[in-house]
Amino acid sequence: KGLRLFVDKLPSMPILKGFTLSPHGAYLPANLTIGMYKKLWKFHRDLPPSTVFAYGESAENATVPGPSIVAMSGVPTYVKWENHLPDKHIFAIDKSLEEASPKKGVPAVVHLHGSVSEPPSDGNARSWYTRNFHEKGDKWKKAVYVYHNARTTGNMWYHDHALGYTRLNLLAGLVGAYKVVNPSVEDKFRLPRKKFDRQLVVMDRSFTKSGYIYINSTGNNPDLHPEWQPEYFGNVIVVNGKAWPYLKVQRRKYRFRIINASNARFYRFALDDGTGFTQIGSDSFYLEAPVHLKSVLVAPSEIVDIVVDFSKVKNNSVVLTNDAAYPFPDGDEPDEMSGKVVKFLVKEKHVEDKARIPDVLEPVLKLSEKHAVARRNIVLYEFDSASGEPTHLLINFANFSAPVTEFPKHGTTELWHIVNLTPDNHPLHIHVAAFQVLHEQRLNNTDQLAACAVQHRGIEACHIESYADGTPAPPPSNEAGWKNVYKMKPFYVTTILVRFSLIDSQPFPFDPSADPGYAYHCHILDHEDNSMMRPYKIVA
Ligand code: C2O
Ligand code: CU
Repeated sequence: KGLRLFVDKLPSMPILKGFTLSPHGAYLPANLTIGMYKKLWKFHRDLPPSTVFAYGESAENATVPGPSIVAMSGVPTYVKWENHLPDKHIFAIDKSLEEASPKKGVPAVVHLHGSVSEPPSDGNARSWYTRNFHEKGDKWKKAVYVYHNARTTGNMWYHDHALGYTRLNLLAGLVGAYKVVNPSVEDKFRLPRKKFDRQLVVMDRSFTKSGYIYINSTGNNPDLHPEWQPEYFGNVIVVNGKAWPYLKVQRRKYRFRIINASNARFYRFALDDGTGFTQIGSDSFYLEAPVHLKSVLVAPSEIVDIVVDFSKVKNNSVVLTNDAAYPFPDGDEPDEMSGKVVKFLVKEKHVEDKARIPDVLEPVLKLSEKHAVARRNIVLYEFDSASGEPTHLLINFANFSAPVTEFPKHGTTELWHIVNLTPDNHPLHIHVAAFQVLHEQRLNNTDQLAACAVQHRGIEACHIESYADGTPAPPPSNEAGWKNVYKMKPFYVTTILVRFSLIDSQPFPFDPSADPGYAYHCHILDHEDNSMMRPYKIVA
């Protein structure tokens, strides 16, 4: 409350190269060491420094978000992720959840979201470890992770994934941007480059007067879960570690790779003077062709890659705004302050702009039902207390520790029907795989369907077809290509085609059937922690 908007400059995070150059100019792998540190971080000019957990090469240069990693397509990056976190967490731990339970210390483990990683390097929630690898989860495999950077290009982000701690570790600051670049593909696009190509990591936080990050540490069902709340929302919008920053821009095109690193908040971004923009990428993939938009809806963990042409802006400034309800879609509207994100101060002078937006980006092989070798039904369900407060959420009525039930075959495509029987929109994320949304369809008589689902602990026996209502709609054009997260609408069945190989049908360049396997989950972190996450295993 009372913080002035747009007084801090938008930071650029330190850049770490995930590759090196040989004397002959060939790209070679790089070995990085990145630690997690407790430190103080200033989120706003007028706010005292806040205690955070931050990623960095050392405690001094650790930042929130962490360093931006730039990797080269096809060239592996090795990262030793070191835990230097203290004995105690900065937030209250809810011991009633399914969670990492070290005797002492903060459990942490890093997942590179959107990556094609071997299971031992994928940051399994049970592969957590405390400071100096002192204690480890039962699925811990190795200390140095390898990222193959096997897809042509891609926007990704890295973040914590420790079982039952994810919402708190991200809230503390353990997030960072990562991108895979490929000059032989991207140079010909002639999109904005260098300082005209920026990553924006967006999150919401609340602060106490003395600068502490504030989270309500009394659960909504304290008898059951002393600390857990169904969704974290903050009233301050933080971009690249500063609350409501500003950026001076030239009157030309800029590329913004926007990552929603919030626990639970959706954003519908727009420019306040009505200037539109062009989306060129969704999650970790280029769209087949650019899509012109006035606004874009971004769920937790989704990435949108957009180009804004500031030569179209008439005034000297324009504000990136947000009008998405929280919780989405039926919660409150953002207020005057949380409805604003970044202010762009546009220079008077017109400049020559050689950047352009190509008509075609990367061709997308359209999957159809005939590609699918298996069909699965996945149901999202929320349990409530007698007073109607959510107590926990489950996928297929099972938690993360329950046995694996999905064993897709390496190299195949499957059809998944995701049935959402809750009033919330859940951004469902699948590790390692890439998928396309076939269609989404509203459901009727959901009380009856839910009763059947609860009775059978699943929807296999419930004939979802007989509840489907109206015509199945294709996804919006800006989400019609490859995705790794999709917003599952309340009381809808969403049908997706999931490919368990590289997007060009190549097998993964490692053994994807290795332990400890993969995960899929809701990316509302408070849901993921209690307990909307399931393991799955790819088999040979
Ligand atoms: Cu962005 Cu399983 O995570
Ligand atoms: Cu959810």
